[in-house]
Amino acid sequence: MSLTWNDIAREFLRCFGQEPVWVVRAPGRVNLIGEHTDYNEGFVLPLAIDRAIWIGLRPRQDRTVAVYSVDFQQQKEFSLEGLQPSQDGWLEYLKGVAWVLGEAGYRLTGWEGVLMGDVPQGAGLSSSAALEMATARAFAAVSEIAWDPVRMALLSQKAENQWVGVQCGIMDQLVSSAAQAGHALLIDCRSLHTKPTPLPEGTAVVVLDTGTRRGLVDSAYNQRRQQCETAAKTLGVRALRDVTLQQLEAAAGRLDPVTFRRARHVATENARTLEAAEAMRRGDKHRLGQLMDASHQSLRDDYEVSSEALNRMVELARAHPACYGARMTGAGFGGCAVALVDAAGAEDFVRTVGPAYQQATGHQPALYVCRATQGAEARPGRLID
Ligand code: GLA
Repeated sequence: MSLTWNDIAREFLRCFGQEPVWVVRAPGRVNLIGEHTDYNEGFVLPLAIDRAIWIGLRPRQDRTVAVYSVDFQQQKEFSLEGLQPSQDGWLEYLKGVAWVLGEAGYRLTGWEGVLMGDVPQGAGLSSSAALEMATARAFAAVSEIAWDPVRMALLSQKAENQWVGVQCGIMDQLVSSAAQAGHALLIDCRSLHTKPTPLPEGTAVVVLDTGTRRGLVDSAYNQRRQQCETAAKTLGVRALRDVTLQQLEAAAGRLDPVTFRRARHVATENARTLEAAEAMRRGDKHRLGQLMDASHQSLRDDYEVSSEALNRMVELARAHPACYGARMTGAGFGGCAVALVDAAGAEDFVRTVGPAYQQATGHQPALYVCRATQGAEARPGRLID
């Protein structure tokens, strides 16, 4: 069961003896297709899921932010004056967002509150971006800053890049901030134009957590980014977004074989993502599924960011009759896969694939059917009966 507005208000009431002034939520995401394309200024098609980071809060007058994390059972605080990075775990995300908003010229009000979440960490469902967007939403609410989803996503990405030190693209923050309920979001990562795209009728999206983890800060992600930049430079384009498969093949001799395969993944994935959005608009779940399968193969063979556990999960998902397509999702190397399944068969899919995976690998999986939810929201923090 996902957390609700009331759960947060109740927790705040328990800690502070009053209802919160605001409750904010920012969702995690699962990416349907368009992987490792965002930092190549390409296309992505994620959806915000019904797992989120929540904050119940009220303003303070002393430029201090004081937060109790229910999940970590830790109380931490920082001053908005003279912010400095340190190694303070989850608090660094809040400090990074405060820093970036201050740098952007916003005059921030302090606040105190409770922080809760049900986005599994390190699973590739963007718990970090959700925490950043929830923090931005909290500051916007108490500091009376108008909510501009794209601007706030860009600022939060800057916090992640420069404060936390992870060179992520824009996908996670933007979908957490700008998603529309019931839709995936086609994002053009160059123009930052977003287009809500409905899920095909009669389908369900299932998240399949392999129970294996690998941190994003790991060098592999940054190394892939560099290989893409090298390829773009050699080909004389601003970003790999500007290269088609035909152009790439014609220029193959100028790239070493590994860089060529990295670039081929990006070129073909961009084309698949645009086609997937078209297929969704037509309600063509079979084509969408095929494109997801092809995306997985490309990530496995050309981009080399999959893992044995992910490959096994995807194979087992594909073997179920209700499955239209499946692939790894997020940065890779561990974490989650995503499957598009027939809604009527979703329960059986979850019941069958989970145990089969556990038996095959010994890892403890978690599978759930997810709902496409709204991006970051703020509501007055009243308990509703
Ligand atoms: C992580 C990053 C995103 C994106 C994906 C891969 O989730 O945060 O920006 O690059 O990996 O598609």
